[in-house]
Amino acid sequence: MDSAGPLSHRRRWSPGVVQQVSPAEVIDLGPGYLDPGLLPVDLLSKAYGEALAEFGSAALAYGDDQGALPFRAAAARRAGCTEAQVLVTAGTSHALYLIAAMFASDQDVVLVERYAYDLGRKILTDRGLRTRAVEMDADGMDPQALHDALVGERGRVAFIYLNPTFHNPTGIVVPETRRRALLEVAARHGVLVVEDDAYADLGMDGDVPPSMAELSGFDGVIRLRTFSKTIAPGLRLGFLIADPRTVNRLVRHGLFVSGGSANHVTSLAVASMLESGDYDRHLTWLRAQLKARRDALVENLSGPFDFDLPAGGYFLWLRFADEVRVPSEVIVAAGARFGDGPGSAVRLAYSLNSPDRLAAAGRVLAGSWIPSLEHT
Ligand SMILES: Cc1ncc(COP(=O)(O)O)c(C=O)c1O
Repeated sequence: MDSAGPLSHRRRWSPGVVQQVSPAEVIDLGPGYLDPGLLPVDLLSKAYGEALAEFGSAALAYGDDQGALPFRAAAARRAGCTEAQVLVTAGTSHALYLIAAMFASDQDVVLVERYAYDLGRKILTDRGLRTRAVEMDADGMDPQALHDALVGERGRVAFIYLNPTFHNPTGIVVPETRRRALLEVAARHGVLVVEDDAYADLGMDGDVPPSMAELSGFDGVIRLRTFSKTIAPGLRLGFLIADPRTVNRLVRHGLFVSGGSANHVTSLAVASMLESGDYDRHLTWLRAQLKARRDALVENLSGPFDFDLPAGGYFLWLRFADEVRVPSEVIVAAGARFGDGPGSAVRLAYSLNSPDRLAAAGRVLAGSWIPSLEHT
């Protein structure tokens, strides 16, 4: 993959350095990664420089177990909570594992949406938990189906894992009334909700509803935030928001007592971006970039599918009545990776490629959806 054009870094992505490099001959709409040209190398150089200048050797010590106060204070202000409710994590994957390790026992059940972030599910099953899919519609998980699942489940339900804003993989946003209904069911059954809000800062068309954590009064919900999708995944920086008691339990884990803050120097660098306004300016720019990418793909795409235009995030979800195969020039994520449903589906990430390449991918796909039944 080519290095980013206008920025000052010149190295190409190569295996052994990054998690995955797309084959040069295809347009890769598979992974939920940012286009290399959207990763803010110069902004981060500045932010790390500012953090080191301001905090000196304190930025290089073991950080406060819960996370450095300047970061937690800035994160809390944005989230409408107190810094006592914020715990710095090494991203959402880390937070999810930590919650699964501390608030669940082997063989416990986690209820997930019919289609759910597959690698999030893998974190849960690798921890020894079982996931159960709950029916969803265009507004997210169905509250009645959630109630039925909670009544019918014979194992202990450790928590409900939801991704209500710009959902991976379907792109949907759960409206406020549905959020309240889901919270009401969870509270009635006394079950914890884990709200994965990886994409919540990436709205392109209008406002997003309040988080489920806010709607619950920060009671019974743990909200997971990450900078992987808004700044860069290589930062490995995120945080969770919960009631102070829950935070106190989590922070007593040996991971923090031994290692201190999950990502100390990076949290100070990002605190500087949050405080200076650089993060908000970057978000405004990034949203416009993602919108141009989404539109380039959608405007050039046609075929025997239905879709809802995502109002934010990274993903376009196409629903087909039958199985389809995709031409070899374009890589997509098969819907079955995320769960089973009627018909078939594919997830297209518009985050990783330029608008021109996305337009080209749209044209290739429009001309060549192949009903796989004809060919098998
Ligand atoms: C819904 C969701 N949660 C979490 C993650 C991973 O987040 P992190 O990089 O913070 O571990 C992703 C990345 O694809 C995601 O889509």
